[in-house]
Amino acid sequence: MPSASMLVRMERSEVTHEDGGSKGVILNISSASGMYPVPLLTVYSATKAFVDFFSRGLHAEYKSRGVTVQSVLPFFVATKLSKVRKPTWDKPSPEAYVRSALNTVGLQTRTNGYLPHALMGWVTGSLLPSCLSTKLAMNVNKGLRARFLKRVKKN
Ligand SMILES: NC(=O)c1ccc[n+]([C@@H]2O[C@H](COP(=O)([O-])OP(=O)(O)OC[C@H]3O[C@@H](n4cnc5c(N)ncnc54)[C@H](OP(=O)(O)O)[C@@H]3O)[C@@H](O)[C@H]2O)c1
Repeated sequence: MPSASMLVRMERSEVTHEDGGSKGVILNISSASGMYPVPLLTVYSATKAFVDFFSRGLHAEYKSRGVTVQSVLPFFVATKLSKVRKPTWDKPSPEAYVRSALNTVGLQTRTNGYLPHALMGWVTGSLLPSCLSTKLAMNVNKGLRARFLKRVKKN
């Protein structure tokens, strides 16, 4: 897990440089996939759960010194990584997402960052039992994988 250990090293050195009086905000990009296990994206999901836990722990350690560590857990955003080309109400452009997420700084230390994502996070993270959210994610990813394999076979 090189990205996880890099995150730990970067932030440890950043926060230990903070002297007693200075303030700062660190935004760590986790993912909604880190809120519960997401089968067929298991390693990604586990790494994002690490980012979320790490951020929350670090925030508790350093808030008294004026350092805020925010954990950001987006659902889909229309980027190169997600392969979503056209932004929609639930899959915003990166600009729209970032604008909205930045408005939560100072208000929330753990956020889905965008109102429709917050609603999705509430349903899948709090309303549904974790086993159901995981089952739902499994079915969605099975469908995505089947579509991908069909496309690969066709080309
Ligand atoms: N998009 C989503 O739906 C979504 C949902 C939840 C969480 N996230 C998280 O959001 C974060 C950003 O993702 P994104 O969707 O914005 O992805 P993206 O559009 O693919 O952008 C990733 C960025 O990281 C840079 N990058 C990748 N590997 C790198 C490396 N080894 N060293 C330095 N820079 C590197 C890329 O540079 P180049 O442009 O030069 O390749 C690019 O600027 C990720 O942590 C992702 O897990 C995304």
